Amino acid sequence: MNNTRDGFNSRIGFVLAAAGSAIGLGNIWGFPTQAANHGGGAFLMVYLLVLFLLALPAMFTEMYIGHTAQANPVKALGKACGEKSALLGKTAGIIGLFGAIGMLSFYSIVAGWMVSHSLAPLAELAGQTQAKQWLNTNSLDRNLFFTPIFILLTAAIIIKGVSQGIEKWSRRLMPLLLVMLISLIIYIAMQEGAAEGIRAYLIPDFSNITDPKLIISAMGQAFFSLSIGVGGMMVYGSYLKKEENLVKLSISVAALDTVIAVLAGLLIIPALFVAQHQGIEVYNNGALIGEGQLIFGILPQLFNQMGEIGIFVGFAFFFLLSIAALTSTISSTEVPVAYIVESKFMDRRKATLLVSLVVLVASMTIIFNFNTLFGFVINVVTNYHLPIMGLFYFIVVGWLWKRGNVLFENQTKTIKLLAYYIKFVCPIMLTAVFLNIVSA
Ligand code: PFF
Repeated sequence: MNNTRDGFNSRIGFVLAAAGSAIGLGNIWGFPTQAANHGGGAFLMVYLLVLFLLALPAMFTEMYIGHTAQANPVKALGKACGEKSALLGKTAGIIGLFGAIGMLSFYSIVAGWMVSHSLAPLAELAGQTQAKQWLNTNSLDRNLFFTPIFILLTAAIIIKGVSQGIEKWSRRLMPLLLVMLISLIIYIAMQEGAAEGIRAYLIPDFSNITDPKLIISAMGQAFFSLSIGVGGMMVYGSYLKKEENLVKLSISVAALDTVIAVLAGLLIIPALFVAQHQGIEVYNNGALIGEGQLIFGILPQLFNQMGEIGIFVGFAFFFLLSIAALTSTISSTEVPVAYIVESKFMDRRKATLLVSLVVLVASMTIIFNFNTLFGFVINVVTNYHLPIMGLFYFIVVGWLWKRGNVLFENQTKTIKLLAYYIKFVCPIMLTAVFLNIVSA
């Protein structure tokens, strides 16, 4: 059965797909906004610390469970928990599937906004001012149109399978994303006011570095950014050939993710200062104008003021965000699809359609109850689901998993150290931060 299982054809394919999952709206929108609001370089330093100490080990742990089992997250966790606790493992795997659906339900809505904003400049180019206005303004109609489109885009890639869909598209989209990001950074850096933004971003303001909220925000951001806790990294790990070196590869994925987040800061924060230079209001009572306003209010205003070139810059910016979102939604969609295909023996096409339909219903429920559900689902998934699942992965690998857990057997000193770090230090640290989140 295992010989026929689809998987990544190349190491680079795996790295790009996993980095694609990690690199998303969280990097290009979330990270720069958090950095701008939490002391620029100071946030970056705390972020790097929690990333290295906690999020990277958690991502490795998640991938390791999938990689060893070479199976979908429900099966993999069931196996890892051993005969006595198999039910616990499987249940956690199923909860993970719901986490993936929950995450997709709000992420697809936001991703739809990115697509509509990327089409607005094209409408302008075609002289369709009314259409441009509609594409740039949040409305029920717009959500009802673009959320399904994004879910369909994701499904179109997933339906093709791992090597012909996920891997192929990650190899196409990720280099494109990098080129677009760097081009935008260079263009913005040449505008007046940008230098001040680069300074504000890179020079740390340590005044609130000991604020527990800063550490909590940095950790939440790091977990979200590395896509930990919904099984996406586990299922990608399971598609990686058994003989590959997971420690090295997971470090590459985290490094790519971090580089892109830091680069995105070099785009967004200078862009804000350029906007400010042009008389657009950016700060309100010393704090940056709300997160949504930043991307959908200030930046489009800036692009508008740039004249013709602004049309292309605006398109490139939102297209970049749409690509980043797409490579992230494919990984979480793959989680339930892999489970249904492998454990329920449904063919891939039907499984993809079924999962997409469930995500669509969940998204529509949020859209029709936006004020009550949107923030609530984001809060539950990002602040509770992700860290709790991360903690569970640590406990599985450190404590519950005996047979087949090679992390503690015949290993080099470094791996042994990593194993004991995952067993003792990570769960304690994560619990401490999590308790802070709950009481914050
Ligand atoms: N890592 C993505 C981001 O930074 O936007 C978010 C994400 C994608 C979380 C996929 C979880 C996931 F399974």
